[in-house]
Amino acid sequence: MDQKTLLETVTDRIVQNNELHTRWLNSLSMMENTGARKISHYEDPVYSDITVLKHAAEEARHAYYLKKLIGRLNEHACPDYTFPHLLAPIETHHYLNRLDVEASRYLKNKLGLSGRALMHGAYLLVTYSIEVRADMLYGIYQDALTRYNSRVNVKSIIAEEEGHLAEMQRMLVSFRPDWQELAADVIAIEDALFTTWARAVYAAVA
Ligand SMILES: [Fe+2]
Ligand SMILES: [Fe+2]
Repeated sequence: MDQKTLLETVTDRIVQNNELHTRWLNSLSMMENTGARKISHYEDPVYSDITVLKHAAEEARHAYYLKKLIGRLNEHACPDYTFPHLLAPIETHHYLNRLDVEASRYLKNKLGLSGRALMHGAYLLVTYSIEVRADMLYGIYQDALTRYNSRVNVKSIIAEEEGHLAEMQRMLVSFRPDWQELAADVIAIEDALFTTWARAVYAAVA
């Protein structure tokens, strides 16, 4: 089954099952929160500009907003990010952390970067690959929500992720002239990790 069909099957199932749906939302919320915390960690205490502040604020909002949507389905579901409240908890924890580690190692080996320069390069490329993914994943999920007239929607997240993708593209252009080649390699790393996550979620909802 290709990735798109897999995700369509998963989102179709979870939208029809409240219990799975709350854990799905909670898993996405946790990944958004991990992203927000990673951006905060990357931020320079003095040289942060409005773009990075906006990005950190919006990722934190996504985590909060997805958490609030859980309440529309079941007031008492998923109070925290412990394993019983997630779908594919191990892979969900793994995805962003592995992506960060593997993309940093790739950049270090390929460009010989270290310290702040390595952090900056990894931030741009990891975030770029995640935004490409967010575009795909939230799009497929929103289609399922629309199809079943769900009480929840993620349209505001989709709009903000589109903005992030454009910002990352702009920043990558000024980062390096060969950014597209680097981005393709990081996207391949992300794609393998995402496939592992998607298959685990599929197994959890099958
Ligand atoms: Fe987000
Ligand atoms: Fe984003």
